[in-house]
Amino acid sequence: MKFKILVADDEKNIREGLAASLEMDGYNAICAAAGDEAWNRFCKGDIDLVITDLRMPGLSGEELMKRIVAESPGLPVIILTGHGTVENAVTAMRDGAYDFLTKPVNLDRLSLLVKRALANRELVMQHRRMEEELEQHRPFETMIGNSPSMRRVFDTISRAAPTKASILITGESGVGKELVADAIHELSPRRGKPLVKVHCAALSESLLESELFGHEKGAFTGAVARKRGRFELANEGTLFLDEIGEIDQNIQIKLLRVLQEKEFERVGGEETIETDVRIVAATNRDLKAEIEKGGFREDLYFRLNVVNIHVPPLRERKDDIPLLVASFLGEFARDNGKEIDGINGKARSRLYAYGWPGNVRELRNCIESAVVMARDRIITEDDLPPTLRSGGEEGWIRIPLGTSLEEAEKIIIRDTLSFNKGNKSKTAKTLAIGRKTLHRKLTGREEGAEE
Ligand SMILES: Nc1ncnc2c1ncn2[C@@H]1O[C@H](COP(=O)(O)OP(=O)(O)OP(=O)(O)O)[C@@H](O)[C@H]1O
Ligand SMILES: [Mg+2]
Repeated sequence: MKFKILVADDEKNIREGLAASLEMDGYNAICAAAGDEAWNRFCKGDIDLVITDLRMPGLSGEELMKRIVAESPGLPVIILTGHGTVENAVTAMRDGAYDFLTKPVNLDRLSLLVKRALANRELVMQHRRMEEELEQHRPFETMIGNSPSMRRVFDTISRAAPTKASILITGESGVGKELVADAIHELSPRRGKPLVKVHCAALSESLLESELFGHEKGAFTGAVARKRGRFELANEGTLFLDEIGEIDQNIQIKLLRVLQEKEFERVGGEETIETDVRIVAATNRDLKAEIEKGGFREDLYFRLNVVNIHVPPLRERKDDIPLLVASFLGEFARDNGKEIDGINGKARSRLYAYGWPGNVRELRNCIESAVVMARDRIITEDDLPPTLRSGGEEGWIRIPLGTSLEEAEKIIIRDTLSFNKGNKSKTAKTLAIGRKTLHRKLTGREEGAEE
């Protein structure tokens, strides 16, 4: 189908010359001799691009452009201007015109500009279609995904959420386990009650115990007052035990008891407290392997894993990338007060080719930085972080010259994480840093810190 271009100029020679040149380029050119005529024709629809003179009798080119931009945001309007009125054209661009051409028009430049404007419009339309699709594939407000594997995840969430069954969420770091936990709580009858989160890896054994079950005044040095634990705080609600694979044997036994008997005592206390909590746990460890090694109790595993929700890594569901990108672009453009129309083909293929060891979290960070770096309304491959531009070689980490120290550290962490197939413990060991430090560097927040 040919693109339709509306050419508005009161000078017959100019509009017919431009039209002839556009027809030669394979477009369908429609002429209008005045602003009002052009506006009437535009309102009939199907115009893909408008070229208009600024000064015309009746409705001026400026006014015409403003109406078009208001009516069809993203539709390119190119302004024609004489040498003396370039300033007006610049003002017009500020008001939403795509670009301007000075008279006498250089036809090669016209050709190029039109081609670029139409390609740009295609991207805008593509982005808009994505945003519309996004609205239809947002089952739980915050979670996005349309791949078959994510649809299965959504389906399991919807079926399991209304019950009281314990749920174990498994998957690599950054796949969205915490979002799954949020969605479960929101879709359960417990939604009006508290959702309490505990980062099990962050705390030492004794601290975790008192965090979970609370303590009586004087139970240990420093216990200056009675403290209610998370099990009490989460009563009638949901308790999210994150990184459950990290808890030690002693706490495992105590947890097992609460899960079985629905009761517990505060540390240093006599009183037995009954509790009604729904347990949702998450881990990026292979708990079955931990059971084999004797690191995790099998009976606790069965209690926690009544329903298993496995969130697959992003590299196994690349179909979700366009929707996620559209959503993150919108979010970060708003946050940064920038207008972003879309992302070009090359950048898109980089996003596809990359392995995403840090999963959706990494994609989100990548889009945030691309939006911040973007020089134009379209994200290009140059706006992407160096990790995506460099393309690693097996066994090596490549860092382009000109990379900041902070960015270099990110590349090292991501590539090591990727090499270790998303295993955080191994990655921390390879990098000779603690798990907590790694967690902080990956998420930008302290492990165990409240949201
Ligand atoms: N399906 C999704 N749609 C939109 N955003 C997502 C999705 N999945 C993950 N995210 C975003 O990615 C980031 C990481 O998600 P989340 O914290 O839930 O991962 P996680 O699996 O708990 O990771 P970790 O194991 O490191 O704790 C968050 O900013 C989250 O909002
Ligand atoms: Mg998490």
